[in-house]
Amino acid sequence: MYRLKGPKFQELVDTNDFVKIPIFSLKKQHETLKGQLTDAFERVMASGCFVLGPEVEALENEFRGFLGTKYAVGVSSGSDALLLALQALGVGPGDEVIVPAYTFFASAGSVSRLGARPVFVDNAPCCYNLNISSVAAAISPKTKAIMAVHLFGQAADMEPLLKVANRAGIPVVEDVAQSLGAKVGNQYAGTLGSFGCFSFFPTKNLGALGEGGMVVTQDLELAEKLRKLRVHGAKKKYFHEEVGGNFRLHELQAAFLRAKLPKLDVWLNQRLGNAETYISIFSDFKSAGPTSLECSCNDTLIEKTAIEGDLLWPFRCHSSHTFNQFINRVPQKKRNALRELLHTRGIGTEVYYPRPLHVQECFQDLGYREGDFPWAEKFSRETLALPIFPENEKHDIELVAHEVLRSLKEL
Ligand SMILES: Cc1ncc(COP(=O)(O)O)c(C=O)c1O
Repeated sequence: MYRLKGPKFQELVDTNDFVKIPIFSLKKQHETLKGQLTDAFERVMASGCFVLGPEVEALENEFRGFLGTKYAVGVSSGSDALLLALQALGVGPGDEVIVPAYTFFASAGSVSRLGARPVFVDNAPCCYNLNISSVAAAISPKTKAIMAVHLFGQAADMEPLLKVANRAGIPVVEDVAQSLGAKVGNQYAGTLGSFGCFSFFPTKNLGALGEGGMVVTQDLELAEKLRKLRVHGAKKKYFHEEVGGNFRLHELQAAFLRAKLPKLDVWLNQRLGNAETYISIFSDFKSAGPTSLECSCNDTLIEKTAIEGDLLWPFRCHSSHTFNQFINRVPQKKRNALRELLHTRGIGTEVYYPRPLHVQECFQDLGYREGDFPWAEKFSRETLALPIFPENEKHDIELVAHEVLRSLKEL
């Protein structure tokens, strides 16, 4: 039985006959790649090496080759990738890291795990990414890093952000968990800051059959530091220069990811095609937009956009969009009802994220209050994700789009 409010993993389990089009599924992808995945499994089983071995090393090389970056370090998850990157920069107690208020928890959790303070800033209404003016205003003498999250598949406005960061001498850590393959000009997101941190959680653009992550950098010294921190701070086994942790990537996951990486470009194109199908159908709906929306990533006046109709589909700003998620905004009074109605019609949806980070219980001691970040709060009340994963057929997406429009008319 599909549970609308169940934890993430329940919605990934494909045992549900009722949901005709789930929000996400790897079932078809794995059927298609069954031969390659089985070969990968058998290779690792026969090798007798299960953690940080030749498969991880080969994946690191292939991944950095894909991105065109110098160094890549395979790690246990995207959350740990962020933690390691911040630790490698020396972030610790007394330091501040600037983080958007509306993002997945790990973007800020990684800061707190190191004893530092996340300093939240509001998101831009165009692409949900960092608003550069807000970042500039939040910089203090304690700022040790800026966390540029590339949310939902679209890269943040890196050029002005790097200008602000470089002027202040502050490193930028890119959280690319959701946006592998997104480009800023000719460069891949993740290759512009001091570190690019990726996740291979199954729902990501490149998903493992379990957990995994990768940190990329252009700096040899930082790469060596990451490699050391990944294994309890020991360059030489059992001789610990500093306190790291167990952040090792498994051979099995690396081998599976190597089987999938050559397909990434095809899958990204399919995601884009699905997004275009939605947008072309939604464009015919008179009560939809983004007609009045303008890019405001680099603008102090962020009050300019409003949802005019009943549906606001993703707005493409200044970078390419990989559509890891297809996020719409629906007026607050209709969002949950639309979700329920789509559920009864066999369509899976998700709310990313129902509570922004500055008002999370675990951050209450930071002193933020409801009302501090209006856009982040508005997004939490209005966003609704629709199925976009690559294995959807065109008619699946058409069906979802028409059901959304039909349901909205009924509400
Ligand atoms: C923006 C963002 N950052 C970090 C992470 C953490 O990645 P992982 O789940 O691999 O730890 C995620 C995963 O959901 C994410 O979406």
